[in-house]
Amino acid sequence: MVIYTVTVNTGDRLLAGTTSYIYIQLRGTEDESDEQSLNCVQGFWQGSVKDFQIDCKAPLGELIDVQLYSKPFMGLLYDQWFCDKITISTPEGDKILFPCYNWLDWNERLALRPAKASLVFQDTNLIAQKLRMRELDEQQKLFRWRVYAEGTPQVIDCDSACSLPPEVRFSFTKESEFYFSAGKQLALLKLTGLADCRKSWENISQLEPILCDNRSETIEYCQEHWDEDEFFGYQFLNGLNPMMIQLCSTLPENFPVTDDMVKGSLGGSSLEQEMEKGNIFLSDYKMLDELVGNVVSGRQQYLTAPLVLLYCNPQGMMLPIAIQLRQKPGEDNPIFLPTDSKADWKLAKIFVRNAEFGVHEVDFHLLRTHLLAEVFTVATLRNLPSPHPLHKLLFPHIRYTLQINIMARNQLISKDGAITTYAGVGGESLEKLLKRATASLTYSALCLPDNISERGLETVPNYYYRDDGMKLWNIINKFVAALLSHYYQHDVNVQKDTELQSWISEIFTKGFLGRDSSGIPSSFQTLKELIKFVTMVIFTVSAQHAAVNNGQFDFGGWMPNYPTALRQPPPKEKGQTTEDTIMETLPDVGTTVNGMAVLALLSKDSADHYPLGNFPEHLYDEEVPCKLIEDFQKDLGKLADLIEERNKKLELPYTYLSPRNVDNSVAI
Ligand SMILES: [Fe+2]
Repeated sequence: MVIYTVTVNTGDRLLAGTTSYIYIQLRGTEDESDEQSLNCVQGFWQGSVKDFQIDCKAPLGELIDVQLYSKPFMGLLYDQWFCDKITISTPEGDKILFPCYNWLDWNERLALRPAKASLVFQDTNLIAQKLRMRELDEQQKLFRWRVYAEGTPQVIDCDSACSLPPEVRFSFTKESEFYFSAGKQLALLKLTGLADCRKSWENISQLEPILCDNRSETIEYCQEHWDEDEFFGYQFLNGLNPMMIQLCSTLPENFPVTDDMVKGSLGGSSLEQEMEKGNIFLSDYKMLDELVGNVVSGRQQYLTAPLVLLYCNPQGMMLPIAIQLRQKPGEDNPIFLPTDSKADWKLAKIFVRNAEFGVHEVDFHLLRTHLLAEVFTVATLRNLPSPHPLHKLLFPHIRYTLQINIMARNQLISKDGAITTYAGVGGESLEKLLKRATASLTYSALCLPDNISERGLETVPNYYYRDDGMKLWNIINKFVAALLSHYYQHDVNVQKDTELQSWISEIFTKGFLGRDSSGIPSSFQTLKELIKFVTMVIFTVSAQHAAVNNGQFDFGGWMPNYPTALRQPPPKEKGQTTEDTIMETLPDVGTTVNGMAVLALLSKDSADHYPLGNFPEHLYDEEVPCKLIEDFQKDLGKLADLIEERNKKLELPYTYLSPRNVDNSVAI
């Protein structure tokens, strides 16, 4: 008879304990133990650490997995159990860690693998290999792909966040689902009474009281500066969507701006001269061309596909100098200028900000962070078994992503969802835009260093998104490179890792729809390729999501700065717009507050927020990765301090990419 000592750590989160019966079975290369009950009188309470002895007839050999199983107490009483980890002391004197960090519901079974990471061809033991294959087989049955809409990335085949398998449930509760509703947010904002009001606002100042309980420094800044050119230009670099602007060295043919139009804005210089100096920039919303606005509260809404020309002046300010609201030039599509009437220019900028809502929410937020994060999550769960080092590396980065995306599909972009109901780009246009965005998505656009150089923005001043983002990219890249180099010493190891190759192949076919033109790899030949891709994955789901997500209420809470829908068509001639036209065009009272509720909801911190660099599941147990994680956390801490120092000198601090504000995963 030999004895194995099992130490069970119950999580210290709320309701982690259980009175259910927990059963355990140890499996090794030589034999397996009987299924044994871990009954104890007091149950497993929150934060408890308990030791048990498992008697076996003979040594089990190398331990391969631990099975946990839960049954109701007395056949009746049951509650979920959150187990952090199991540690097993073997008769040979080894201590082996089996990370869990999962909920176990009654009649559910969890299979825990040892923390030591291994690649498929290193697991030479036949039983371990079989378990690896069995785990993937089970995972592939649990996590299936589904077509959400033709021409867009595939999603998880699951209709309800609460019915997701325990492997990805984390501390998610029904309550989280309850709070994920625009109605609940309306109540929290104390705006429920205005939700059905179809009246126009009489003037902009009427909006002030509805923000009274929900102010932040940035909202107040928006309120004060929203119609100033300097702030309008600033937002192309450091606002909610810092991804649209690009250097302009020749004017698009459909944007016939002349020197006469802009020479006042250029201090007497010409467009050609300023283009040569690299001071002219463009934001072109052609992706929105010909999309028809939604019908909101029975009323047609209007979308435009503007072109915006910007000038970076000698003081380093980015200023708009010309706006054309539709793509096809012509007499009925004037080019608006800062020298036009105040109302004409203001309304042109409002249409641009509404176009910004469409491309930001659908392309840069939904597609390029949420849907891609879901692709990475499903591909990881289906193709990388728990001992795989990349599974361990990516696990913190998939937290809550499936839940949040299922809830967004059910409650925001579903037929009666809040975006479908209240956004000008909602409904059919959203699907069309999502398809267009997917069709034009490229690998280089997702890799920040490539993206910045493709857009010609290497030297533009005061571009804090780029400055902080590049530093973050480099820190993530350094960590990923060191960690993956520890497991893959040679390119050939990358090539023969069949699990890894299946992972990237599924990402290519299910996420990027097998489009070679995307530049996304369909296989990996070198370690260098792998490091770059994994850096992109982690950057996308953490930093990039934070940059385009966390400021939604900051920049959008003041509605005129980010109107969700516009009720009048764009002006066809100059000189017709008045302040009244502007109020008639902006969303009515009900649409405004419902839009605010959605933005408030989308900007919320998740229930248990883990900033970048945290590995709450402690899935690694070896010295090298643990040391690398420590170094990674130190680098992130230094960057956070650096950003904090820089922000002290800014009129409007740029905080979104401070590592302390960046979540590990797409969790909201
Ligand atoms: Fe988000």
